Order: sequence, then C-alpha cells, then structure tokens
Amino acid sequence: MALPRLLIGLIVATVVVLGLHRAGVWGVRHPPEPYPPTPAALATARAAQEAAAREAAAREEAERLAAIAQRAETPEVLPPGHGREETFGYCTPCHSTAVIRRSRLSREQWDELMDWMSEKHGMNPLEGEMREVIVDYLAGAFPPAQPAGGRHGGNPFLTD
Ligand code: HEC
Repeated sequence: MALPRLLIGLIVATVVVLGLHRAGVWGVRHPPEPYPPTPAALATARAAQEAAAREAAAREEAERLAAIAQRAETPEVLPPGHGREETFGYCTPCHSTAVIRRSRLSREQWDELMDWMSEKHGMNPLEGEMREVIVDYLAGAFPPAQPAGGRHGGNPFLTD
C-alpha cells in the first residue's frame, strides 16, 4: 500500500514543480530573441516613412497655396464708390492695389498718372468714358492728404 501512495506523491510533486517552472516562478525564463528585421521589412518601413514625408510635404504645400489664395485681392480691398470695379479690373493686371492705395493725388495728378502709366509702363491708353470713370473714382477715393496743422494740430492719428 505504501508504494502507490509514494507514486502518487511523486506525480503530484512533479506536476507542481513543472507548473511552477512553466509559470516562471521556478527557474529563469528568457524572453525569446527577436529576429533581426528582414530586408523586405526594412524596405516596407522605409516606404511607409517616405509616404508619410510626402504626405506632410503635400499638406504643407496645400496650406501655402491656401494662404496665397486668401491674400489674393478682390475689388473690396478698394474703398467703395462708383468705378471701383472698373478701376480694379483695369489696374491690377500689373501690380496689386497697394501702389494705388498708398498714393494720395489730386484729380489732375491721377489724370496725368494715366498717361505716365501708358507711356512708361505699357498700360493700354485709357480713353473716353472709361478714363473719366476711373480717374473720378481714384480722385474721390484717394485725394491728397489733408495738410498738417488742422483741428488736431497735425496729429496724423486723429482724422476728424
Ligand atoms: C501695363 C501694366 C500696368 C497697368 C495696367 C497699370 N500699371 Fe500702375 N504701374 C505699373 C508699373 C510697371 C509701375 C511701376 C513699378 C511699381 O511701382 O510697381 C506702376 C506704378 C504705379 C503707381 C505708383 C506710382 C508711384 O508714385 O510710384 C501707381 C499709383 C499706379 N501704378 C497706379 C495705377 C492705376 C491707377 C492703374 C489703372 C488705371 C494702373 N496703375 C495700371 C504698371 C501698370
């Protein structure tokens, strides 16, 4: 009767020892060595990296173009008035409205400028009714600056 009991005891002890070993409690378990990446895996990773870089560059370019489109001028950058659309259409093929908006001239000077623009810069000569409309608009929207020393003693930040 003692032998079977001994056998059972041995089996139980073996199972317990194997179980503990398996659970990592018994003995040291080494993590499996990772395989070095294969050339194919390296190529895939590189391709993914390049695709991400291309995507980022495309996004940057799209943002740059959107910013330019936002800066593009429309007639509304000029003060409202009769002749604004004509002026914008006639005057912006060569330069922005900035050169116009920073000028403060009398009607006579604007009129002379039209000839100067044609003679010196190749603008199509502005004639007839169109010239009247545009010069009237320019003279009204960009008159000569008020002489200094007015109501506010020439303070340029106070306009009335
Ligand atoms: C054919 C091209 C062209 C057209 C069209 C044109 N301009 Fe110009 N304009 C120029 C050039 C070139 C200059 C000189 C370079 C610069 O200042 O950018 C200039 C300069 C100017 C200046 C600055 C003058 C200064 O004192 O320096 C004003 C103001 C101006 N233009 C107004 C106008 C107006 C208003 C119109 C429409 C009636 C017009 N331009 C149409 C080519 C043109």
